[in-house]
Order: sequence, then structure tokens, then C-alpha cells
Amino acid sequence: MKKYKIAVAGTGYVGLSIAVLLSQHNEVYAVDIVPDRVNLINNKKSPIQDKEIEDYLLTKPLNLKATLDAAFAYSNADFVIIATPTNYDPQKNFFDTSAVEAVIKLVMTYNPNAVMVIKSTIPVGFTKTIREKTGSKNIIFSPEFLRESNALYDNLYPSRIIVGTDLKTKRLTEAAEDFARLLKEGAIKRTLIPCLWILLKLKL
Ligand SMILES: NC(=O)c1ccc[n+]([C@@H]2O[C@H](COP(=O)([O-])OP(=O)(O)OC[C@H]3O[C@@H](n4cnc5c(N)ncnc54)[C@H](O)[C@@H]3O)[C@@H](O)[C@H]2O)c1
Repeated sequence: MKKYKIAVAGTGYVGLSIAVLLSQHNEVYAVDIVPDRVNLINNKKSPIQDKEIEDYLLTKPLNLKATLDAAFAYSNADFVIIATPTNYDPQKNFFDTSAVEAVIKLVMTYNPNAVMVIKSTIPVGFTKTIREKTGSKNIIFSPEFLRESNALYDNLYPSRIIVGTDLKTKRLTEAAEDFARLLKEGAIKRTLIPCLWILLKLKL
């Protein structure tokens, strides 16, 4: 399978497990805004408690670099995977999607052709709204099902892979299929993984 350049925004449970998974076969830059996390990863230490991530960082030949330089990482990426926090804000009764939107803004500035895959938890309708708001046709959503402390394990043995797309847009549908293949390629369990494409009802 083709090797991709991938940037992952956020090195928490979701971002770091995906960065490690994909860096077995692709060139991956893991972007964070916290210098300590970046330093730990570049020293092959995990900033989060996760047995498989700790083990893979130490023992596997990963093509993974952590960086604070988002502009550099996003400029060179085929895919930008967004795994930043979206904490629930009880005051607004809504998820705080500002970190996701900040990443999308940077990607649109430095590399608008990159396909952005949102892995963060977002409210229903967010992908459609943000595509309309930004004018980008390159944003898709793929829900994450991992458990904290078993994050990489759950991506190595996925129970299912779901990627949203707009089936009317050939490039985006191919990108969604490629992204699902990338997740499968990094997994140990590669067979009997149900894969699902979800049609986004977008007015294009
Ligand atoms: N943890 C889970 O079990 C789980 C499961 C499914 C979905 N999710 C969702 O995935 C998202 C991430 O969850 P998590 O547990 O990995 O979060 P986390 O808080 O562990 O990690 C998020 C990381 O993103 C970094 N970050 C913040 N703003 C950034 C920016 N602008 N650019 C780059 N990095 C930035 C933070 O410094 C942090 O290291 C959330 O939306 C969460 O709801 C989490």
C-alpha cells in the first residue's frame, strides 16, 4: 500500500494511539501544543498510561516524530487527523470544538488540499456545518471507540472501522477508503473488521 505523510493533531489517548498505529507503515508527525508531551514522545516515552503505546514506542521501528511545529507538519501532510479535546461545556450546553476549529484553520492556511479526518467527539451536524463555514470540501469524520489505557490495543484489534464521506465526491470517498485501509494496515487483527461508509447529506 502507498506510504502516506500524516500529521496527527493532539497526542492524548486518541491521537497518540493512532500516530503510533499509522507510523508502523507511514511517515507520521504528532503535533501538540505542550512541549513536555512532545519531548517525552521523541524520547520514546509515553505521556499517557497505556501498556501497548509504551511498548511500541520503545521496541518498534516507528517512523514517528512529535513536534510543536504545526505549520511544518500540516504543510507536508496527505492526511491531517484531528484528535484535540472537545470537552463538554455545561455553561453553553455544548461541546467546545474550538481546538478542532483551530487545527482546521491552520490546515486551510498551510495545506488546504490535505484531507482532514476528525477523530474528536463532535456534536451531530458539526462536519456539515464546518465544511460550509470554512468552504473546505476536505473534512470527514471517523468516530473513535477506544478505551483509555487500552487505546493502542483497541486500534490494533478494532471491532469496527467507520468513516464518513460524501459519496458524491469521488476524491473524498477514495480518501475515506484509503483512511480505513490505513487503520486496517496498522492493525494486528486485519480480517473480519466491519467497515462502514456513511453518506453525509451535504448540499454541494
Ligand atoms: N479518551 C477516550 O477514551 C476517547 C474515546 C473516543 C473519543 N474521544 C475523543 O477524542 C478527543 C481527544 O480525546 P483524548 O482523550 O485523546 O484527549 P486528551 O485530552 O487526552 O488529549 C488531547 C491532546 O490534544 C492537545 N491539544 C490541544 N489543543 C491542541 C491544538 N490546537 N493542536 C494540537 N494539539 C492540541 C492537548 O495538549 C492534548 O495533549 C476528544 O474529543 C474526546 O472526546 C476520546
